[in-house]
Amino acid sequence: MVAIGIDVGGTKCLAVALANDGSILDSLTLPTATGVGIVEEVADLCTALASRVGKAATSLGVGMPGTVSHDGVVYLAPHLPEVRQLPMHALLSSQLGIPVVVDNDATCAGVAEWRNGAARNCDNALVITIGTGIGVALIANGKVLRGHHGFAGESGHHIVMHGGEECPCGRRGCWEQYASGSALRRMANGVSGEEVLLRVVQEDKEAKRVLEEFASWVALGLFNLVNTLDPQVIVLGGGLGSSGVLRHFVADALHKQMPPSDLRPAPLLLTAQLGPEAGAIGAAVLGKEVIE
Ligand code: BGC
Repeated sequence: MVAIGIDVGGTKCLAVALANDGSILDSLTLPTATGVGIVEEVADLCTALASRVGKAATSLGVGMPGTVSHDGVVYLAPHLPEVRQLPMHALLSSQLGIPVVVDNDATCAGVAEWRNGAARNCDNALVITIGTGIGVALIANGKVLRGHHGFAGESGHHIVMHGGEECPCGRRGCWEQYASGSALRRMANGVSGEEVLLRVVQEDKEAKRVLEEFASWVALGLFNLVNTLDPQVIVLGGGLGSSGVLRHFVADALHKQMPPSDLRPAPLLLTAQLGPEAGAIGAAVLGKEVIE
């Protein structure tokens, strides 16, 4: 008996098998398939990982990088162009015959960080995943805020620049076009985010200038969210967001943009604790909760 969690990303799918105490028994990664092929791939990953740990899968949780309705239909995943109104929950449940939960990837990562990571014991927290896109999990008054359709937290698509950079969601000027890993690469003329961070540590002046500019865009979106949710804690996660160097620059930029602390006390800004597996862990936790 084992709970499986799968985080579907723009380029790879990561599956984890979670033990009862919440630790990871084993994991598997595959390049993300295209279109409806994702459903087959997720089902195969679930079965393969469960048999690798020598147990039957008791539940499956899946984190998808897009708008997922309460009944597990993936309406739009900007970085998976062929995924539109995909009834993932219905397809996976009938194929696997076990309880399945499908939720937004950042919400899954947020649940993991809230239950067991950097946002533990916080009733009001934002967990922001910064990678290819930007995802946001909203914890408000001790609950995960999902909204009417289940689409709350699509803050990566807040417009921060009227008529700005084109976004795969079909609009222009979205926050994730200025504050995601892909945005940092563009600002650094094709140099990857990891490389920019490395060069900053090596005290490269140009890399520092680029990271300062990037961090001010991250902080701009964060401040809008602070005004919306009034969080106690903001957790930066995802491939790029978990970097301590980035956190330092963003903290600086946020400090400059926030009003004086006697007028608005600043939230704590932390890096995620559960690493790149947070999304898959959170998905497994949500799947497990259905049978508990
Ligand atoms: C999507 C979100 C997702 C985020 C991170 C955004 O482009 O709209 O739903 O959480 O990317 O994958």
